[in-house]
Amino acid sequence: MILPIYLYGQSVLRQETEEIDANYPDLRKLVDDMYETMYASDGIGLAAPQVGLSIRLIVIDADALKESFPELEGVKLTLINPELEVLTDGKKVTREEGCLSLPGLHEPVSRYEKVRLNWLDIDFVEHEEVFEGFLSRIIQHEYDHLEQTLYVDRTTPIRKQLIRNKLRNIAEGRVACDYRVKQNAKKR
Ligand code: NI
Repeated sequence: MILPIYLYGQSVLRQETEEIDANYPDLRKLVDDMYETMYASDGIGLAAPQVGLSIRLIVIDADALKESFPELEGVKLTLINPELEVLTDGKKVTREEGCLSLPGLHEPVSRYEKVRLNWLDIDFVEHEEVFEGFLSRIIQHEYDHLEQTLYVDRTTPIRKQLIRNKLRNIAEGRVACDYRVKQNAKKR
């Protein structure tokens, strides 16, 4: 089932998230629905707050980017209760990002090159891995959603000023979208 994606301005994107356990109701169905929703909107990652749920759950399928990033071929990750740690060399890289909750916007964002992630998979098996390159960026972007942060929060003050009207339009329901969304009522 395709779920509506909550757009910028919806309060759930700024609410604290909770860890889940194996008793979370219909978790497998929810994860399937999140993948379906993500594919239907041509996304490569989706975090639970974007479908209106304040829980620590992320789905990623980066295979669609394999032309530009061969290392992303077949990369599909379901991340439950992830914990992210920035690795001490602390090097940052700037690249453009977009987000399904912010249709029509793409902005450069500076991110750490290397992070370590701990998480549980759909069977609640524990994993730990170090991620680099573009996958590290995708993970940091999605992890931010669990920490009430959107990528536009991380742009420079000048860029923030330049996109102010676009952000207001999204928050006030004046944005057209070719996928199912939940947004604030249109303000005139
Ligand atoms: Ni996003």
